[in-house]
Amino acid sequence: VVLISGSSHPALGAAIAKVLNLEQGRCIVDRFPDGEHHVEVVEEVRGCDVYLLQTLGPPVDSHLMELLLMVDACRRRGAARVTAVVPYLAYARHDRRETGREPLGARLVADMLRVAGVDRLVAMDLHSPAVEGCFNIPVEHLSAMPLLADHLQRTATPSSVVVSPDLGAVKRAERYAAQLKLPVAVVHKHRTSGSQVQARRITGDVEGCTPIVVDDMISTAGTVEAAVNALLEAGCAPEVTVVATHALLVGPAIDRLQRLPLRRLLTTDSLPLPMRPPFQVEVVSVAP
Ligand code: R5P
Repeated sequence: VVLISGSSHPALGAAIAKVLNLEQGRCIVDRFPDGEHHVEVVEEVRGCDVYLLQTLGPPVDSHLMELLLMVDACRRRGAARVTAVVPYLAYARHDRRETGREPLGARLVADMLRVAGVDRLVAMDLHSPAVEGCFNIPVEHLSAMPLLADHLQRTATPSSVVVSPDLGAVKRAERYAAQLKLPVAVVHKHRTSGSQVQARRITGDVEGCTPIVVDDMISTAGTVEAAVNALLEAGCAPEVTVVATHALLVGPAIDRLQRLPLRRLLTTDSLPLPMRPPFQVEVVSVAP
């Protein structure tokens, strides 16, 4: 078995190698002067079972291209099997065409990985289970939810309520609620742009409760901001826990979260945190 990390999250690569008691395979990843990626798999991979770790956080396309080149290099060096370990799979939200004028990004990424030579994908908390259907190769769909719920268990109180910030996250919220033995509430969200959302109404009893808002990812934090403001208006306690497997935290995310009465953000190391955020963040490692 050979484990090789791309440049997107060296710390996670090191943590996984430590858990497996493996030396990471050597791979040079840098740039040519014109901006093209230069990838050189130095490790001997002929006949090996190769695991390439590359989480697809920003800069997304650059990390994706780097992964494709790593896969191709391993294939051409005679790897017996190549598994792409992609904790956060970018473009997974492009799993359907809302207007009929858009591409099916998730399907295209799946095809590119397969054509490059990926035999198997390991991903974590995909935006929706339907994304698996975009792949013609086996997908190991792992979930950080049991780890995160386990972490929450220590601090959840009988007055806590698990909140889904939109209709798409209801099943996820129900899974957390089942493990924590708590009720569920749902915020009905309307997205007006890539970074702006509105909360329209809440289903469920939230008055006087301490909310635990759960989602698969926080990108610009527009979803969480709208949900928390709606919850506060509905009489929730101003002490909110936000839980998401993937903390992208791009654009206005840090400012938005900072403005909220956030008790803490609970997330995983599926992505590197962009900087030390000015609020409490608890990170559960998915390396094991
Ligand atoms: C949407 O369906 C996802 O589950 C997340 O709620 C959303 O993508 C988060 O994006 P943002 O943080 O930019 O609102």
